[in-house]
Amino acid sequence: MAEVDATSRGSWNTKLGFVLAAAGSAVGLGNIWKFPNVVADNGGAAFILIYIICCFLIGFPVMIAELTIGRRTRKNPVGAFKALSRNKLFALIGAWGIICGVMILAFYNVVAGWTLSFILEEITYSLGFTHAAAFFANLKHGPENALFSILFMGATVSIIMGGISNGIEKATKTMMPILLGILIVMIGYVFTQNGSTEGLQHYLIPDFSKINAKLVFAAMGQAFFSLSLGMGAMITYGSYLNKKQNIPEAASYVVLFDFAVAFLAGLLIIPALFVAQAHGIQIYQKGSLVSSVGLVFQVLPTLFHSMSHWVSLIFGTTFFILLSMAALTSTISLLEVPVSYAIDEHGIPRKKAALLIAGGILVISIFISFDISWIDILASVFNNVGLPLGGLLICLFLGYFWKTENALLEMKEGYENVENSFFGKLWPIFVKYICPILIGIVFFQALEQLF
Ligand code: TRP
Repeated sequence: MAEVDATSRGSWNTKLGFVLAAAGSAVGLGNIWKFPNVVADNGGAAFILIYIICCFLIGFPVMIAELTIGRRTRKNPVGAFKALSRNKLFALIGAWGIICGVMILAFYNVVAGWTLSFILEEITYSLGFTHAAAFFANLKHGPENALFSILFMGATVSIIMGGISNGIEKATKTMMPILLGILIVMIGYVFTQNGSTEGLQHYLIPDFSKINAKLVFAAMGQAFFSLSLGMGAMITYGSYLNKKQNIPEAASYVVLFDFAVAFLAGLLIIPALFVAQAHGIQIYQKGSLVSSVGLVFQVLPTLFHSMSHWVSLIFGTTFFILLSMAALTSTISLLEVPVSYAIDEHGIPRKKAALLIAGGILVISIFISFDISWIDILASVFNNVGLPLGGLLICLFLGYFWKTENALLEMKEGYENVENSFFGKLWPIFVKYICPILIGIVFFQALEQLF
């Protein structure tokens, strides 16, 4: 019976398919848009070092926790908590996750829309249509933001309607290798340009004097968002995993992939910034690097425009295609969570659920399109506070109610020897003590900043 259920909900065809889908969820605007900026502003390689520690110390155990809950129950976040305990209150953890996901998708979709409009901006500019280019570059123009939000949500929903293996898996399996390829070729090109060495130094020479407690919390928060944790996205993706998969191994590939792309994005963008500086473009404002919106949507286009027409056309357009693909593999995961909830808990067919929910979220996106100051407000509530809260509750639930022994029993399928392994001894300590304490601190910090 369980097997029939599993197939009717859909499942990943291959292990690689799952890893790329989960890595696609992880790799997004957080990696390419935000990470390089945070690094450049916070001591370069020193931050990277702390970031990778956060990914493996906090992100990795929590990702395993989410995937295991998902595979065990084969349910969306709400259904998963309902299935694992009699106390219906726990389902609220899942519900909170879904709310966070919906709100994150609402504003993420607007930024994702910008990446589309900038593809057109680069094409029109390079071809000499500067008026059209200026139109596409205007991030504050409501109707245009709304239009691109609609287009982006359309792309997301069309993939989600295709289901797990035919929709998400196929799309991410195509896009992730292209994304990686584009990134590497672009890095190669930037390195041939004047000024890139200075950027490389800025990126890779650590400045340990910038490390302080606040920075460590920033790294933890960034790791959490980048790995798509705290709202049940990985519970949902885990629910489509078959019992042959080794969960900790698969999770380690996802974390590595996500880190690698963030690192490579920094290797592209920070040297590119200094190439821009060599072209006379201002990259510092009040002593620190320009903000992340300004960086990707102003400094880089200005740099592209200062190159020859053809280079600008190819390089600029490809860069924004890269960014939109990264965003798309992430919006897919954000939309899949509420859709899986509607399918499992309310019996709504996938296509109908996808259209209805995407339509509802789009209404919020359109509202945000006309007043983009909401992006910062929603991000500080739902990313910065909401995700750590969700992650904290997931750890506490797994550690103290469902129990790590039961989770390890689930992991045994696909990883026979897990209980006696070094990992199997260490993981429960992380889920029960280390992660809740550290994530708890991040949560309270973010809450304090909110008020
Ligand atoms: N991880 C993505 C990024 O780095 C964003 C994202 C997708 C996300 N799905 C998520 C964040 C679920 C939190 C939870 O851009």
